[in-house]
Amino acid sequence: MKYLVTSALPYANAPLHLGHVLEIVQTDAWVRHKNLTKDEALYFCASDTHGTPIMLKAKDSGIQPEELINKMHANHKNTFEKFNINLANFHSTHSEENKILTADIFKNAQDKGYIYKKNISQLYDENEGIFLADRFVKGSCPVCKAEDQYGDACEKCGSTYDALELINPISALSDSTPIIKESEHYFFQLNKLSDFLKSNIKKISKQPPIEAKLNEWLDEDLRDWDVSRDDPYFGFNIPGEDSKYIYVWMDAPVGYLASIQNWSESLNNDFNDLMNSQDTKLIHFIGKDIVYFHLLFWPAMLKTAGIKNLDEVFVHGFLTIEGKKMSKSKGNFILADKALDYAPADYYRYYLSSKLNTDISDIDFSLDDFIQKVNSDLIGKYINIGSRTQNFLVKLNGSKIIPNSLTKSQEFKDNYVEIISQIDAKEYSKALRNIMMLADKINAYVSKEEPWDKAKNGNEEACLKICSESLNVFKDLTILLQSFIPEITSEALSMLNLGKLSYSDLGLDNINSVQKFKPFIRRLEKTEFEGILD
Ligand code: 2FM
Ligand code: ZN
Repeated sequence: MKYLVTSALPYANAPLHLGHVLEIVQTDAWVRHKNLTKDEALYFCASDTHGTPIMLKAKDSGIQPEELINKMHANHKNTFEKFNINLANFHSTHSEENKILTADIFKNAQDKGYIYKKNISQLYDENEGIFLADRFVKGSCPVCKAEDQYGDACEKCGSTYDALELINPISALSDSTPIIKESEHYFFQLNKLSDFLKSNIKKISKQPPIEAKLNEWLDEDLRDWDVSRDDPYFGFNIPGEDSKYIYVWMDAPVGYLASIQNWSESLNNDFNDLMNSQDTKLIHFIGKDIVYFHLLFWPAMLKTAGIKNLDEVFVHGFLTIEGKKMSKSKGNFILADKALDYAPADYYRYYLSSKLNTDISDIDFSLDDFIQKVNSDLIGKYINIGSRTQNFLVKLNGSKIIPNSLTKSQEFKDNYVEIISQIDAKEYSKALRNIMMLADKINAYVSKEEPWDKAKNGNEEACLKICSESLNVFKDLTILLQSFIPEITSEALSMLNLGKLSYSDLGLDNINSVQKFKPFIRRLEKTEFEGILD
């Protein structure tokens, strides 16, 4: 099977933060894991480049939107690399492929009668000459009268409403009072597809809370989706219109396909053959805030365009910091690049993975817990196996391992199978817990057998046997950890004079000789982390 895997396309208006890292690490670990099996997986992403916020941010900075999105594209790509994310392609929604695919999808939906036009009234900022998106207008909540609420929902009482219902609306762009203005918009009739969407839920989601939420939405009438925006807007024109644009959320998921197409054609492969093959599966990793777009709108778009459906959407919860929502204004925010000034990528990769599972509850990053977990698991348990055994082979056996010392590896084989299936099911926290349990077991074995004592008492053979057995398990645990901590495991393998290994190397006697152990990862100290929050 060939898995085409994506994570949500980051908006090209700000650098990535630790919440993005959570998702890209989750995706990358799964892709790497698949590549350790007989299957193949490729990871695609792109910049999400269109929409009002990007247009206004560029305007504020006195540059064209193209300049902003190019700069952010390079910035994001670099962050992905620094976190060792193994991307097949990082493309852009502002690309020729995406323009053509999106227009095609739009026209198909239109030709098949899923899109209609109607006039609507919206708030309009006359000073700026722009219709106001919900996030750019504030006023008092029509329900509880709380002041300073956005145009779509009240943070105080939780009501949702139309921006026209806001009391005393004020434009966030010019502080002026907006007028009400009419214009013609294009609407996608999602409800026409509700039977298909309902029957589709079980196929594309295996997470009970997501299924429940979708059923709840589908049990009510689905609202028609406004897929157009008026000038000025940064995006693709609606086919046949000069001053109307396709709403960013319509071209964004198409960006997944554009990235795959761009990659495929760069290798002279046929994109349609790839997509339509029975051996290809399309899997999206996303956060729980964008479920509606990915499990309702996106399958509906694919369906009307006659494009093969996606195969799975996998959803994770939000990242909180020290138990609180990430917020720049509250100083509770960690930028991805900045985090790397304090600790290496693999440490974050390990910690975040150790908290990820298939439920959609929030995942907390707590500094004390992070430091404790890295020090205790990676250094105290995992690396400890190599660091306390390897040098006996170097000193007493010319660096050679004792062959066929697989007793321990054999004993652990059933555990390996379980761990692999947990990673496959995206239950990383369970898998990592089990890996560390095996590390504990082998460390307890070494402590009990005391190879150092045996060496001292002239029983070198016994010492070498214990160390060789332990190193075989160390090698196996390294294989299982490769998807999560690629840099550390590659160092560990190179100290065992081995290259990259796959799951088929588990339980094999494939270490020949070892190098002298060098401590190549360091313990974390709390005092080093001052200033990590923004
Ligand atoms: O929520 C977001 O950050 C969006 N930029 C995600 C887009 S995912 C896909 F549909 F493009
Ligand atoms: Zn309210």
